Amino acid sequence: MASDPRPLTEPPIDPLALLEADTTLEAARPLLELVATYFAETRAGEGGVSTWHSAEVIADRLATEMPRNPRPLADVARRLASLLLVDVNRLAHPMYIGHQVSAPLPAAVWTEALISALNQSQAVREMSPSFTPLEHQVIEWMTDLIGWDARAGGTMTSGGTEATLTALLAARARAIPNVWDRGVGPRPPVLVCGEHAHYAVTRAAGVMGLGQSHVVVIPSDGQRMSVPQLRARLAELQREHKPVMAVVATAGCTATGAFDDLEAVADACDSFADANGPLWMHVDAAHGGGALLAPRERPRLAGLARARSVAWDPHKTLLLPLAAGMLLMREEHDLERAYAQSAPYLFTPSEDARAWDMGPRSFQCSRRADVLKVWVAFERYGSQALGALYERLCDMARYLHERLSSHAQFTPLHLPESNILCFSWQPPGVVDAAERDALTDALRERYNRSGRGWITATSLGGRRVLRITVMNARTDRVHLDALVSGLEAEAQRVLQHHR
Ligand SMILES: Cc1ncc(COP(=O)(O)O)c(C=O)c1O
Repeated sequence: MASDPRPLTEPPIDPLALLEADTTLEAARPLLELVATYFAETRAGEGGVSTWHSAEVIADRLATEMPRNPRPLADVARRLASLLLVDVNRLAHPMYIGHQVSAPLPAAVWTEALISALNQSQAVREMSPSFTPLEHQVIEWMTDLIGWDARAGGTMTSGGTEATLTALLAARARAIPNVWDRGVGPRPPVLVCGEHAHYAVTRAAGVMGLGQSHVVVIPSDGQRMSVPQLRARLAELQREHKPVMAVVATAGCTATGAFDDLEAVADACDSFADANGPLWMHVDAAHGGGALLAPRERPRLAGLARARSVAWDPHKTLLLPLAAGMLLMREEHDLERAYAQSAPYLFTPSEDARAWDMGPRSFQCSRRADVLKVWVAFERYGSQALGALYERLCDMARYLHERLSSHAQFTPLHLPESNILCFSWQPPGVVDAAERDALTDALRERYNRSGRGWITATSLGGRRVLRITVMNARTDRVHLDALVSGLEAEAQRVLQHHR
C-alpha cells in the first residue's frame, strides 16, 4: 500500500471547510480593516505618498515558493500589509496629483466585494438577470445627459481604449459593410484624429488592420485640433478619392485636458459627407465626459450630441475605481455591427433576449458587472454631488495655475480646461534645452521619490514639462501650496547635484 506523502503531524486538509470559514463578516474583517485603515491614514495625510524601492527590491521580497499549505485569512492580511501595502502608490493621499487614476469613491470601493461575490457575467442576460437591464438603464442615464433619444445605447467597457476600439469597429463596418468576412482589402479607408489624441486611436488602427499609414493626424492649434487644417485635409482626401472611416475628436486630451471644438469638428464632418452621410464623428471623452454632470464645465462639450459615438470613462473624472469604462452610441444598432459573430453556445438567437445580451456588442466575453458600482455611486452621491466634485477637481487645477502665474521658476503652460495642468521649470542659469529637459525629469523623479507628493511629466512642443492631474477630492489648496514648496526645495537639491 502506498504511504501517505504528508507527514503524520500535518492535519488533513478539508478545502470546503476552508472556503466556508471565509464567508463570514468576522473572517472578512482583517481585509476590510486594511481598506478602512488606508482611508483613515490617507485622510489624515499620514506617511509618504509612495516609496522609492526599486522593482527589483520588491520582487526579491516576493520571491517565495508557491504556498502549499493554507494560512488563516488574518495572517494573509498581515502578510499582505507588510509585503505589499508598504510600497503601493497611495492615490487617496491628497498629495497624489499624478496620473488620471482616481482616489475612488468609498461607496464604490465597498461595492467591489459584492460585484465579485455575485460574479454575474454581463455577456448574456441569462447569466446576469439583474445587471444586464441595469447596464442598459445606466447607459440610458448617460445618453440622456448627452441629449440623445431612445435610439441611443451602448456598453460598458474596460476603459477608454476598448471603448474607442469598439466605436471604430462600428465605424469600420459602416465604411466597409462586409469587412467582418473579407477584411479591410487593399485600399482601406482612413481614420482622422488630432495630434493630441490618445494612443487608443492609433492602436485601434493597428488592431483593425488599417495600419498606422491610414491614420491622418491633424496638427493642433494651441492644444486643440486645428479645424481649418482638418477641413483642408478632408478636402484633400476627397480629391484623392480616399474614403474617411471616422474623425476622432478629443474632449479632455491626455496631456493638457484640452477640449476640441466639437461643434466645429461636427460641422466639418457634415460638410464632407459621403455616400453614407455625414462623416462618423467619434468623441474620446474618456477624461472630459465628467463635465456633462457639471453645469459650469458642460459648455466645453457643446456639440457632443452630434457625435455618433462617445467614449467616457467613469473610472476617471467620475472617480470610480478601475475598471469602469463606457461606450455610448447615438444609434444603438451601429453597435450591433461592430462585431458580427454567432456563438450558439452563448448568444441566443431570439431577437428579444439578444436585445438585453451585451456579449454580441462587446469586445469582452465574460465581463464583470462594473455597472453596479456606477449605479451605487449615483444612488449614494447623486448626480449633483458628482458634478460638484468634477468642478472642484477643475478648480484645483485653476488654483495651481494662478499660484504659478507669478512664480520665478515654474510657469503654467496653458489655462486649465479640466483638472490637468502642465507647467515648465526654468532652472536658473540653464539655457540648453536638452539640459533643461533632463533636469525637469530629474526634479520630478526626486520629488516623487521623496514621498512628499507624486506628479507626472510629459512632452509639450518637444520639451519635457511637469504635469498634475487632480483626481482626488481631498486635494485642496494647502496641498497645492505644499506641492509648490516641495518642488522648490527639491529643485534646489537637483541643482546642487548638477553643479
Ligand atoms: C483622452 C483619453 N482617452 C483614452 C484613454 C485610455 O483610457 P483607458 O486607460 O481607460 O483605456 C485615456 C487614458 O488616460 C485618455 O486620457
